[in-house]
Amino acid sequence: MKSVKIGFIGGGNMGGAMIEALWRAQPDGASSAEDEQKFDGGSEACGTENLAQTDKNASQCECEKKAKFEILACARSKNEALRQRFSVKIAASEADLAREADAVVLATKPASYEAILRLIAPELAGKILLLLAPSFDIKRARQIVGEGVYIARAMPNIAACIGASATALCFDAGFSEAKEETVREIIAKIGKIYEIDEAGFAAFTGIAGSLPAYVCAFIEAAADAGVRGGLPRRLCYDAVCAAIEGTARLIQSGKHPAALKDEVCSPAGTTIEGLVALENGGFRGALMQAIAACIAKARG
Ligand SMILES: NC(=O)c1ccc[n+]([C@@H]2O[C@H](COP(=O)([O-])OP(=O)(O)OC[C@H]3O[C@@H](n4cnc5c(N)ncnc54)[C@H](OP(=O)(O)O)[C@@H]3O)[C@@H](O)[C@H]2O)c1
Repeated sequence: MKSVKIGFIGGGNMGGAMIEALWRAQPDGASSAEDEQKFDGGSEACGTENLAQTDKNASQCECEKKAKFEILACARSKNEALRQRFSVKIAASEADLAREADAVVLATKPASYEAILRLIAPELAGKILLLLAPSFDIKRARQIVGEGVYIARAMPNIAACIGASATALCFDAGFSEAKEETVREIIAKIGKIYEIDEAGFAAFTGIAGSLPAYVCAFIEAAADAGVRGGLPRRLCYDAVCAAIEGTARLIQSGKHPAALKDEVCSPAGTTIEGLVALENGGFRGALMQAIAACIAKARG
């Protein structure tokens, strides 16, 4: 694959996470001990606590290092941190970035999308435009930038920074196979890709884009309960995460969640007592309502 210039407008939590993943996937990315420190210009979720996972993903990336990306950014207060940390080339303005890039990633909050798209529209002919916002669809972007721009939309999550995002992806009509492949190469660097219709993006936001926040609430509450039970906090966070990871791997290997739950609950045992308390507290209903509220908001 030839070198592709990817330009990020915005380098906060998500832009920073994607830039970090792309940088790690470069042949010279993440090569020194200093490099193993995480970028904290945007995402606190990508702190040093995650180094073990980062190492694992860095080695997983070894086989993917053939693709070469040049990363540009126009990211206001994050410019200097991105330049120092990832040797990102900084563009003087949004329009300059769009002029130079082959693919533009709009990694700002949705409220600024319209103004930025109007600014960069004259520079986008023949280029890829990647939208990340939950409530700004391709049709709306098309109305602003006009024809001749290849618009794709992705819904990643914060684990993008370690190459472990679950990312929804869709393409507007008119993409060539080669242009689609370029976008897939970019998104593959941040994790697993789910190509779905744009109509499913709001629901995907609920079950994957926003899910890390709900999982963090779960992890924090479970760890608090472990601390209450007398265990050290660090051990609690680690053990809860390991238990979640192991369970997720079992489900991904084909085990049905209900069957697994039944296996863990022995008659008159400890686990079923906890499950009764969860049901009494309306756990499933609360989680389903949380995701439904997120989906409703994402639908705008
Ligand atoms: N965070 C997530 O987990 C997540 C998940 C899925 C999708 N997304 C989507 O990703 C997008 C970015 O979210 P985020 O969480 O990364 O937001 P964020 O942390 O607030 O980052 C947005 C960044 O955009 C910069 N910015 C705003 N206007 C700009 C402009 N005109 N030119 C250049 N930079 C500009 C801001 O710069 P300053 O810092 O200088 O203000 C800020 O750093 C949103 O559309 C969001 O919905 C986020």
